Amino acid sequence: MSQTALPTGATIGIIGGGQLGRMSAVAASRLGYQVHILSAEIDPPAHDTARHVTIGAYDDEAVLRQFAESVDVITFEFENISSDGLELLASLCPVHPAGRVLAISQDRILEKSFLGEQDIPVAPWVSVPDEVSLSSVASELGYPFLLKTTRFGYDGKGQFRITDAETLDALASTLPYPLIAEGFVDFERELSVMVARSASGAVRCFSVTENQHRDGILDISLAPARIPVALAAEAEALALRIAEAIGLVGILGVEMFVSAKGTLLVNEIAPRPHNSGHWTMDACLIDQFEMHIRAVADLPLPDPFRHSDAVMKNLIGPEGMALCDTVLEQPGLALHLYGKSECRPGRKMGHVNALFPLGALPGPYGVAARFDSALKAPQEA
Ligand SMILES: Nc1ncnc2c1ncn2[C@@H]1O[C@H](COP(=O)(O)OP(=O)(O)O)[C@@H](O)[C@H]1O
Ligand SMILES: [Mg+2]
Repeated sequence: MSQTALPTGATIGIIGGGQLGRMSAVAASRLGYQVHILSAEIDPPAHDTARHVTIGAYDDEAVLRQFAESVDVITFEFENISSDGLELLASLCPVHPAGRVLAISQDRILEKSFLGEQDIPVAPWVSVPDEVSLSSVASELGYPFLLKTTRFGYDGKGQFRITDAETLDALASTLPYPLIAEGFVDFERELSVMVARSASGAVRCFSVTENQHRDGILDISLAPARIPVALAAEAEALALRIAEAIGLVGILGVEMFVSAKGTLLVNEIAPRPHNSGHWTMDACLIDQFEMHIRAVADLPLPDPFRHSDAVMKNLIGPEGMALCDTVLEQPGLALHLYGKSECRPGRKMGHVNALFPLGALPGPYGVAARFDSALKAPQEA
């Protein structure tokens, strides 16, 4: 065991109290740690699973100071804390992953620039600081392209698909600059890789995951991704390169596209547990949350050992919650709810994992249908 391993009983501070913090706190307590959550939201999902919760603003110096002084190490489930805030925390307590990692992933321009510097393939992009700079985008990228806010985007929010000059003209004066413009990737499928790295430099990847989105929100993840072994190895190699280059300590989700030509393009990185890694909770001996806590605590990082193939479905809004009773009744499905009191359309309320024997993931076209039918009420199935 490393000399810097966090001793049992120590307190891990987690910034953010959403479902990722909630599930990280469970993993931390399983390893004998206490958890202190800092949440800007009253009654956060992580309140149910953490010993201590502070409700306060992420930019309130007094709140951050008191929080940092009450914990032994700090990590995140929410990456949009200010650089001043990060600096203050780091002056008082070890912070993993480091502020630099968050700064890069918070800003799509810094993120794409960083990936480019590492020769990691990405979609063509240009910076669009203001309306004036928008006029040359179409000639550089061609239609269609996407405009995305540089910061604070999630679940497809803050994105605009531009198909032609008329759409662009109609929107130009209303857009929330600064933006990034990205060439639209006509992808064959989307993948993600969860990669963990500890302070001692140990690294581990979970099986490459295949992701299907609906309305910009992750709907279904399949593990392993239905891609050739060589492409999966390439995806893992990219994730490992990013983890090393950025100096990751913790876990990082790397989202990728498989282009129509079969090549990989990295879309974005998220230095925290990731929705597309939730299948690991039931299909691996060590899940993404435990791997994250182990990395932050500088414990050994074992092979996660995927004992089953898995399909994860997000339960989103009232429509998702309506499936709960069926999920509870069906054999072979594991339900995870986030304890959110308010159920709004588009809000992630929980997820379901379905397990399959290794190698028995349903075929290319049948997965979504078969999983969906498993979730249907018996009379409809
Ligand atoms: N350049 C692109 N070309 C095609 N589809 C894209 C592109 N960028 C994003 N998307 C689609 O939108 C989804 C959300 O975009 P992403 O950049 O991952 O933002 P978010 O932070 O909201 O997850 C992606 O998973 C993908 O389905
Ligand atoms: Mg994304």
